[in-house]
Amino acid sequence: MAGGTAPDVAGVRLAVRLRGTPGLPGDKSISHRALLLAAIARGTSLIEGAGDGVDVRTTASLVEALGATIERGHGDGRRVDYRVVSPGIEGLHEAEGILDCGNSGTTTRLIAGILAGLPGYHVLDGDDSLRRRPLARIIEPLRKMGAEVYARRANSLLPMTVVGHTQLRAIDQQTAVPSAQVKSAILLAGLRAEGRTTVRELVATRDHTERMLRARGIPVRRVELRDGGVAVSLEGGVPVQAIGEMVPADPSAAAFWLVAGAIHPDAELSLVAVGLNPTRRAVVDLLRRMGAQIDEVPRSRAGASQPGAGHDESGEPLADLVVRSSDLRAIEISPVEVAQAIDEIPVLCLAATQAHGTTSIRGAGELRAKESDRITGIARGLNALGARVTVADDDISITGPTPLAGSAIDSHSDHRLAMTFAIAGLIASGATTISDPACVSISYPGFFALLEGVRA
Ligand code: S3P
Repeated sequence: MAGGTAPDVAGVRLAVRLRGTPGLPGDKSISHRALLLAAIARGTSLIEGAGDGVDVRTTASLVEALGATIERGHGDGRRVDYRVVSPGIEGLHEAEGILDCGNSGTTTRLIAGILAGLPGYHVLDGDDSLRRRPLARIIEPLRKMGAEVYARRANSLLPMTVVGHTQLRAIDQQTAVPSAQVKSAILLAGLRAEGRTTVRELVATRDHTERMLRARGIPVRRVELRDGGVAVSLEGGVPVQAIGEMVPADPSAAAFWLVAGAIHPDAELSLVAVGLNPTRRAVVDLLRRMGAQIDEVPRSRAGASQPGAGHDESGEPLADLVVRSSDLRAIEISPVEVAQAIDEIPVLCLAATQAHGTTSIRGAGELRAKESDRITGIARGLNALGARVTVADDDISITGPTPLAGSAIDSHSDHRLAMTFAIAGLIASGATTISDPACVSISYPGFFALLEGVRA
């Protein structure tokens, strides 16, 4: 990740004003799925504006290792176009070496769902962070479906071996923790199963896999359950079609600028064509509940903002956003809302340090299973900057507003923590230094240059 010449720390100084339109990467979740679905679809798939972070590049390299051909096209450092030519799932083959998933949990869990139904011997590994992240949640259902899966520590941690088979068996699975990665792994395996595979979730997680499968000819059924959850199902044996798709800008990347604009006393920042899928937009709604001034204009894919349009052709809602300096108040964030804003909770914690009152975030335990233990990392880092953050089990309380003062902060080599602390540095007195800043390239290459660019 951090190349030999990458600096050990990044310094961020207080900004007097924030203005501009920082460019965003293509949505990371959608980019991974677009590449993986292109791998299993026979023919040529075009992916426009994929995120060009290290995680998505990792998925692209694994798709090539399994036998698809990938051409990188136009790119601007944050986004890139891909042309993927694949023989389809029937023509893919086991890789010659180990499938190195790097830092990417999404790559690991989603590709495991595909490999379960691809005859062959597949070995997956990753970096130190990924080797600590839980896998039993996918291994158990994939085994039930008939794949042979083995992993370190009693089948719970990388490295992992998947011996794929066809036909798999369809299952009806209730997920223990809300996880789009687990849901997606089971649905992708379900494509190679006999019968109808169903995943039941207590909280509806991001539904990109379902939307993208439908766009590729797979009828995916979604039923809302009485307890507030959802059941998602598909019938195995239907081929996935190759299509062209545009990737929206990543709302999880946009979240950093939304918080920057809301907490800074003299700010106006614009964000263009952000993906605002109902299962991803919670960060916008939570910030508004805190009093953030965010304008939202739905837009169509190609042209300028068009009220009433608001969708790209793959069915993902898009909007232009403008955020201005705001007077924030504390809110309560429930466990369901944590699941809906799972990747944005760290930067929402920063917003809470500038809100009047005590923000409480309950049931955030899944944050400990991300690229780092984000509960510990965010509490330590924000407190080192002068915030008042307390943690009790999996609940976080933040009392504000507190002035922040620059300090040396450990990013734990976690891209979302590094970017959160960099945004904090824009309102902190003096200088904030962040360890291993190169880790931001996991999801947002060029982030620090944009941070300089928005200082008006
Ligand atoms: C993702 C799902 C989430 C999220 C991750 C990306 C995805 O993980 O944290 O960054 O693309 O499906 P879980 O579904 O495991 O919570």
